[in-house]
Amino acid sequence: MKTIKVDTIVYEYSNLSELSELEQKLVEEAKNATIKSYSPYSMFKVGSSILLENGEIICGNNQENAAYPSGLCAERVALFYANSKYSDQKVKIIAIAAKGKNGFTKEPVSPCGSCRQVMIESEERFESPIKLILFGESKIRVLLNVTQLLPLGFDKSFLLDY
Ligand code: THU
Repeated sequence: MKTIKVDTIVYEYSNLSELSELEQKLVEEAKNATIKSYSPYSMFKVGSSILLENGEIICGNNQENAAYPSGLCAERVALFYANSKYSDQKVKIIAIAAKGKNGFTKEPVSPCGSCRQVMIESEERFESPIKLILFGESKIRVLLNVTQLLPLGFDKSFLLDY
């Protein structure tokens, strides 16, 4: 038996002003996107903004449904739309923000497992890392690629091998 240690590198900032102007704009866009979230069941409004290689910024928010599992997270709404509108454009950065009834979360919001899986598909599809910016009122976390959040994940290599 051998033990494998998997490390995740997270860059943590205490203030938005420590990010580049473009990154700050992406956070603002993600925060703005929460406004049109359709979340009457959870009352938890999530917004996501995506920077594409051509400079375009695509936003999305969570879309809930009375049949709960039919709803979709903000990240996947934005990412599927970005990939469908600009199918040849690399996804460079994804910013995420979320607010409940007391305003934006203090802790940086972390994408769910399904969103991580979908983001990894985009990283592999375009052979390009996606930077993640996770906004919280008390701190902002930055990860340089999605694999940091989903190590040992499932990808197409398994399908080709068997
Ligand atoms: N949600 C997102 O949109 N993104 C996340 O990263 C976590 C959760 C949504 C799904 C649901 O509409 C609500 O937040 C509560 O789970």
